[in-house]
Amino acid sequence: MWGRLWPLLLSILTATAVPGPSLRRPSRELDATPRMTIPYEELSGTRHFKGQAQNYSTLLLEEASARLLVGARGALFSLSANDIGDGAHKEIHWEASPEMQSKCHQKGKNNQTECFNHVRFLQRLNSTHLYACGTHAFQPLCAAIDAEAFTLPTSFEEGKEKCPYDPARGFTGLIIDGGLYTATRYEFRSIPDIRRSRHPHSLRTEETPMHWLNG
Ligand SMILES: *[C@@H]1O[C@H](CO)[C@@H](O)[C@H](O)[C@H]1NC(C)=O
Ligand SMILES: *[C@@H]1O[C@H](CO)[C@@H](O)[C@H](O)[C@H]1NC(C)=O
Ligand SMILES: *[C@@H]1O[C@H](CO)[C@@H](O)[C@H](O)[C@H]1NC(C)=O
Repeated sequence: MWGRLWPLLLSILTATAVPGPSLRRPSRELDATPRMTIPYEELSGTRHFKGQAQNYSTLLLEEASARLLVGARGALFSLSANDIGDGAHKEIHWEASPEMQSKCHQKGKNNQTECFNHVRFLQRLNSTHLYACGTHAFQPLCAAIDAEAFTLPTSFEEGKEKCPYDPARGFTGLIIDGGLYTATRYEFRSIPDIRRSRHPHSLRTEETPMHWLNG
């Protein structure tokens, strides 16, 4: 159940934030009822994890291996889902190079917030690998990550069709049968769309009604 719930919750949080013209329903009609509510008292005794990183933006709970995978700014973490505070986590450092960061700054982006590698996508790719994408100082990059070893690969994949450039842009994505489905407003496009990539037949919606995105 948890495995299904987390992606759902995340999609709700992120999909409703996709900006753009509302083509069908005005946003006030959106059903923003939380699908899960936890009373404050039940939070006592919760475990905490605090890494050096900022901007924790992606969560993936893997029930089978009892790992909670977390994407942040310049980092990925693999925590024990039974006790995220047990101190035995694994960490991947994945930041854009100083050259990339200064190029990003020269393009007029904010070097205090935007010119970093914000991990926006983190999903299971297959039985051995995870798939992650980061904004990478406004040059999105993706990587297939060996889940067991939890280290960055030596080669990366182009991320601009899969990941937003802007770390604050609304975004959601899923991997289904090896195909990568993402929804966001990509750089230089005025309206958001839904795409399928990393698949023999790439697809892109010409015009995405907002109710598709919100659904
Ligand atoms: C950001 O850019 C400003 C102005 O160019 C510079 O002074 C500052 O050191 C830069 N900060 C970082 C973290 O790169
Ligand atoms: C999973 O995907 C990765 C990256 O594409 C690939 O290297 C690996 O062989 C795949 N594993 C299996 C079991 O298919
Ligand atoms: C990242 O965190 C900093 C500090 O909390 C915040 O100012 C900034 O807006 C965050 N950036 C994003 C993209 O969420």
